[in-house]
Amino acid sequence: MRPAKLILGGKEYEFPVIVGTEDEVAIDIRKLRDMTGAITYDPGYVNTGSCKSDITFIDGEKGILRYRGYPIEELAGKLIYSAAAYLVIYGHLPDKEEFKDWRRDLTMNSFLHEHLRKFFDHYPITAHPMNILASMIASMSSFYPEEIDDPNDIDRHIKRIVGQVKTIAAYSYKQFIGKPCIYPRSDHSWSANFLRMMFGTPAEEYQVPKIMEEALDLILILHMDHEQNCSTSTVRMVGSSQSDLYASVASGINALWGRLHGGANEAVLNMLQRIHKDGGNYKKYVDMAKEKGSRFRLMGFGHRVYKNFDPRAKILKDTVTRLLADLGNNDPLLEIAMGLEEVVLKDEFFIERKLYPNVDFYSGIAYRAMGIPTDMFTVLFAMGRMPGWIAHWLEMRTDRDQRIHRPRQLYTGPNLQHL
Ligand code: SDX
Repeated sequence: MRPAKLILGGKEYEFPVIVGTEDEVAIDIRKLRDMTGAITYDPGYVNTGSCKSDITFIDGEKGILRYRGYPIEELAGKLIYSAAAYLVIYGHLPDKEEFKDWRRDLTMNSFLHEHLRKFFDHYPITAHPMNILASMIASMSSFYPEEIDDPNDIDRHIKRIVGQVKTIAAYSYKQFIGKPCIYPRSDHSWSANFLRMMFGTPAEEYQVPKIMEEALDLILILHMDHEQNCSTSTVRMVGSSQSDLYASVASGINALWGRLHGGANEAVLNMLQRIHKDGGNYKKYVDMAKEKGSRFRLMGFGHRVYKNFDPRAKILKDTVTRLLADLGNNDPLLEIAMGLEEVVLKDEFFIERKLYPNVDFYSGIAYRAMGIPTDMFTVLFAMGRMPGWIAHWLEMRTDRDQRIHRPRQLYTGPNLQHL
């Protein structure tokens, strides 16, 4: 494609244009400052591409999401978590042998180092499970200090993180409710192991309901990757300074925790509960969100990229309806959610701003139907997103275009002054 032209200060400059696999167009401005002395200004990086990536493709206008070229509709509900995680991380679906080894390695890596497990004895009962998850993952590098540059060591770190994240999550729940933790089993799938460690007790065998295992696989796969979202960009930013995989992923967990990002699923449930307590008058909250200058936002609506229905929300809405019917759970919050969605989708304010329900709008209701407590919702988002973070960290390290992330700024402070 012909270069892009820029006229600045009466001079004309040309910049190469690069085209992606799905015909997205990017202006390569790597030489902009050297050539013109100017920088770009793009708070929130709304228009800025930070890298090239083979992992995920999103078309926000058409509501398309694909992992390694496969449409999300063909993965969620068809693969189990460990298979989709392998695809996202290693770039292809595993063959029989690869899958057997991968599942065995994940199971054998599900156990925490016993000294690391003792950390749980020292968290206060009030510790938020996202805080525990971030600090436990960061602490893992103290227990596994192998070379971070040796590909074999990296593969072991990957299996430890994907294997142990579910154990850390389940243990943070058990420590919160003051109940004993149980160990994972090698005859359970990744999701079944998590549910058994969450709801099982040493007193008797816990049979994981198939409907819950399948629903969890589907929901986690929907969350597995989403290109350069806030937390994934954070993992890349931290990894770009050659921080190890544990430190980079722990930073991603902290970024995800924010209520505008992964923390939104917890915020959705808190909002629905607030509306329920307020007599279920969801129209009042829709009006609150529309007030000029109002800081109140309808949690679970809107998206930086999707200006159409989030394809994950569509799949999740059907899953939630099925889950509630199968579990015989007529959650009053679901009725409020359905009413809220109906009003928003017809309201000019939201239509004009292309604000649709996003993945977080339904995921919290699904988790609640499964008996997962609200403050564990973002932890489950992190469990789902873990393979995506790892895949991007790996991709960044082998991308010859990549350098340490160090954006510029426009200085607007005082001119030179003296004491
Ligand atoms: C996730 O990036 C990803 O891919 C994220 C994610 C992933 O998988 O990683 O998809 C997961 O984080 C989903 C989003 C979850 N967050 C929420 O549900 C929180 C509520 N949503 C918003 O805060 C907001 O929509 C964002 C943060 C999601 C997007 O923010 P943007 O793109 O910066 O949009 P904006 O703040 O510039 O809003 C544009 C307009 C504004 O109105 P005006 O100033 O033009 O009058 O839309 C309004 C906003 O006030 N608006 C909302 C709204 N979201 C945007 N108004 C009411 N309720 C909302 N939810």
